[in-house]
Amino acid sequence: MISQKQYCNEEVSRKIDELLSQMTVDEKIGQLHQLGPSPVGGFEISLDELKKMLDAGAITQKEYEQSARGFKVDEREDEVRAGTIGSFLGLYGAEKCNRMQKVAVEESRLGIPLLLGFDVIHGLRTVFPIPLAESCSWDMEMAEKTAAVAAKESAAVGLNWTFAPMVDIARDARWGRIAEGAGEDTYLGSRFAEARVKGFQGESLADPENIAACAKHFVAYGAAIGGRDYNTVDMSLQTLYETYLPPFKAATDAGVATFMGAFNDLNGVPCSTNPFLYKTILRKDWGFNGMVVSDSMALQNCLDHATVADRADVARQALQAGMDMDMHSTCYHDFLKELLENGQISMEDIDTAVTNVLRIKFALGLFENPYTDEFLADKVILCDEHRALARESAKKSIVLLKNNGVLPLKKDVKIAVVGALADNAEEMLGTWEGIGRGEDCISVTAGLQNAGVQFKFAPCCSLDGAFDEAELSATIKDADIVIACVGESKEDSGEASARCDITLPGRQDEMLAAIRAQGKKLVTVLFNGRPLAIPEAVENSDAVVEAWHLGVEAGNAVCDVLFGDYNPSARLTTTFPNHSGECPTYYNHLPTGKPAAEMKYTSKYIDAPLVPLFPFGYGLSYTEYAYSGLSANVTENGIDVTVTVKNVGAVDGEETVQVYVHDVLASRSRPVRELKAFGKVFLKAGEEKQITLSVARKDLEFYDMQLNRIFEAGDFEIFVGHDGTAPLSGEVAVE
Ligand code: GLC
Repeated sequence: MISQKQYCNEEVSRKIDELLSQMTVDEKIGQLHQLGPSPVGGFEISLDELKKMLDAGAITQKEYEQSARGFKVDEREDEVRAGTIGSFLGLYGAEKCNRMQKVAVEESRLGIPLLLGFDVIHGLRTVFPIPLAESCSWDMEMAEKTAAVAAKESAAVGLNWTFAPMVDIARDARWGRIAEGAGEDTYLGSRFAEARVKGFQGESLADPENIAACAKHFVAYGAAIGGRDYNTVDMSLQTLYETYLPPFKAATDAGVATFMGAFNDLNGVPCSTNPFLYKTILRKDWGFNGMVVSDSMALQNCLDHATVADRADVARQALQAGMDMDMHSTCYHDFLKELLENGQISMEDIDTAVTNVLRIKFALGLFENPYTDEFLADKVILCDEHRALARESAKKSIVLLKNNGVLPLKKDVKIAVVGALADNAEEMLGTWEGIGRGEDCISVTAGLQNAGVQFKFAPCCSLDGAFDEAELSATIKDADIVIACVGESKEDSGEASARCDITLPGRQDEMLAAIRAQGKKLVTVLFNGRPLAIPEAVENSDAVVEAWHLGVEAGNAVCDVLFGDYNPSARLTTTFPNHSGECPTYYNHLPTGKPAAEMKYTSKYIDAPLVPLFPFGYGLSYTEYAYSGLSANVTENGIDVTVTVKNVGAVDGEETVQVYVHDVLASRSRPVRELKAFGKVFLKAGEEKQITLSVARKDLEFYDMQLNRIFEAGDFEIFVGHDGTAPLSGEVAVE
């Protein structure tokens, strides 16, 4: 695993100092400036005007895209040649990247290569399950493998940097970007942060198959009030340190090369200009030696935060806060030189940022090897091996939420398939689909055909309100089983996609009720990028399968589970509420002085159940697991929890044993339980195994009111089991 020390070894530092001594101010500022290729040269109208018309609703998105396609793309070669741009966002293709690297390396004065970044969030062209789905596998090896494949495909098209992993803890299902992370739990989110960084970066960034990763969005973006994207984040420093920072610390310790600042303000200070984040926490406390990039236009957005006087002021504040590179806003490009000349920033401020950028370029080996093998892409992109991994990852991400015995299905029953998502391959890509394409994806209907299953299909119900009940009746009338594919569009999760009503869009619930009313056995398959409040759908279904947005192999993986070729093993990493109004919901909450109970004067909603629709860690299987022989032993390193798990069913399967801890008495109120260890164990039918999981002593620490990280001796309850409702299994005293 890469370490932070590797970014600032002596030899590299000497080379950087040598370069700095030769660079002009314009060339230094160029290294801090990132843009995308720009469509320009429209015929009768400029792109800006076209965008204004789109924003004003004068033209549709489709009309905009058709017009924009007519524009040629300015790849800004002159700026690269002049050394005034050091990085691109969204420039990919081996030939195109090689051409641009050649301009930088062979035609600019100092030959400094380019950082070429892109949002490779869950695969480049081989699109894997969205990160929230993959997190339900609780499988770090899998997460590392899919990130490694994403890196390999990215490198093959000339990219050397991804703006991933997104490691924001998210407790509010209304927030569309919950789709991009690893759910609500800090311990699990930290494990995924490590795995994904290691997958993208491998053992060396100089390996041509690896790319630089980017821990984002620093910090606490997932705590936007109301789940409304870009909204204010307001929290105690204790919560910041205990819940939202740890996955970023885990990414740092895993050697992540870059960080991305968050759009939001944290307690009123924009993250883009907050020195406490970058100078204090990241570099002084954590020893981070990589580079920090802003989010896209985030520097410009500080004008709206109204904490800066103008674009020059935000350039000054951001640079001096430790923001090394400006993505897209051009504030650095436009004002740093003037700020230097009038003494508002120092050459040291600039050199510090340039050094951080150059460290990553040296670590990537770009000075020695800036070019991509142009024959690689055809060999690796969407190859069979990558597709096979996509299917494996998708199967492991599917959560069985309900099953009254109707699953697994037999292939010779009469099956009707309904729902607009059933044959929509494009929707399987999910948000941030890289350069994924709909035609690469296997839909559910295609998966059924691949499985050799006879079925009757009609959409019957769209996502936006159309529902043809006559078509439904005609489609299902002779069926033994109805498979209803429902959920939300991939466009309704991800960035700028907060929903205040997280029920099934349109009249999908009505369709499910109609199927139930016609006395049909109903298997509901969900396609969504967030937890949904779907009590009626669950009530009306004999089985509910959470299939998220699973990527290119979605349909095959869904069929693997529906017909029992794979025994579902995934467990939820986010709580599913009964009602949108319960958000934010999360299992590791404080008890409060009036813990939720039936009694009136307790902390609850009087119009909602006391418990969530589905709890964190929940997931069913086609078999059952029995736990016995639990013991918890205190060691100098923490608590070793040993338990015997037996597969008491008739089907082999993989169990995820979860260990939760509750600090019974502390100087600050502690969560009712917190995940502190877990392990996966494969068990054949009837087989049992003993597993020991260790809770680290440091993971029992918390922050006092003076923000000291402390450990308080005392009793800790232990809960061991199948999901977040694991029963009380023991209590130990830790000194
Ligand atoms: C977006 C996102 C960020 C992404 C960046 C570049 O606004 O917030 O996650 O990496 O811009 O596309």
